Order: sequence, then C-alpha cells, then structure tokens
Amino acid sequence: MTDKKRIAIYPGSFDPLTNGHIDIIERALDIFDQVIVAILHNPAKKALFTMKERVDMINQSFKNNKCVQVDSFGGLLVDYAKMKNAVAVIRGMRAISDFESEFQMALMNRKLNKEIQSVFLMTGLRWIFTSSSIIKEAAQFGGDITDMVPEAVHQKMMEKFPKIKE
Ligand code: PNS
Repeated sequence: MTDKKRIAIYPGSFDPLTNGHIDIIERALDIFDQVIVAILHNPAKKALFTMKERVDMINQSFKNNKCVQVDSFGGLLVDYAKMKNAVAVIRGMRAISDFESEFQMALMNRKLNKEIQSVFLMTGLRWIFTSSSIIKEAAQFGGDITDMVPEAVHQKMMEKFPKIKE
C-alpha cells in the first residue's frame, strides 16, 4: 500500500460547466483523491466563454473543495495527464450515443500511453439530456436554464444572453 494521492484528470471544453459535469466530478471524487478539471485550449473551436471565464466559473463552483483543481492544457491529453502524475482520465457517459466517440478516444489515448486508464462514469439520470451546447442554445433564445448550471455559470450566461428568463 502507498499513501500516494490518486489523481484523475477530467478533460473537456467546459463551455460552460453544467450540473451534469458537476455530477461527474462528485462521482469521481468518490474514487480519486484529487480531480483536475482540465480545459482544452482549442483555437479551432469557437467558444462562447474565454478560457479565463471558464476557469473562473469552475473555480467559483468548487471554491470550498480543495480536492478539485482547475487548469487548462494544450496538446495531447495523455502527455498532460503524465505531467500531472494522474493515473486516470475521467469521462462522463450520458447515453449510448456517447459511447462510440468515447471508445475511440479512449483507445487512442491507451495507444499513446498505456499507463493512463480511461474511467467512464454514468451521469445521474437527471442530467442525461444536458450538454453545454444544448444549454447554450436554449439560453440564446431566452430559455430558463436555472437548474441546469451552477449559479456562477447562470450569472455569466445572463450577461451573454440578457433574454434568459430567471
Ligand atoms: O468536452 P469535449 O469537447 O468533448 O472534450 C474533448 C477532449 C478535450 C477531451 C478531447 O478533444 C481531447 O482530449 N483533446 C486533446 C487532444 C488529444 O489528446 N487527442 C488525442 C486523443 S483523441
């Protein structure tokens, strides 16, 4: 037995963080000592929120939890995970439709570094239909997204989309 901290990376775009992501982070904390929420720098993908905004919203949502760290990364996920001494990459699964692309990504990551395990966590049933994209779409047209995102995100979404109903 070793008392080494078991670190997991939870990578993604988080544009923005949703309650579905929070559900996955909480489940991951049941297994790992520390979860690093790692936001990909992806110049090819147009994001609604800047990197700083995304980092700040996640930090605010987990400000009382020292087991959750927020960071950004570029390049290969497995290289970042190794640099952070992580043993696993966490991904959330909502429906079977997530499976194919996640399976492909996990096998590619294993090919690139066989020491990093991919761990899939099933989201709570409540969040099975949520995604950052669908929440942004609803918010853009004034839909009420209050119980789908944490408070810090809701505030920022209202700044971006003043039509949102409270
Ligand atoms: O939230 P997303 O957009 O589904 O997250 C995708 C992410 C960031 C996990 C994935 O694109 C990624 O890991 N990119 C880093 C580049 C990489 O390592 N690619 C090779 C494995 S597919």
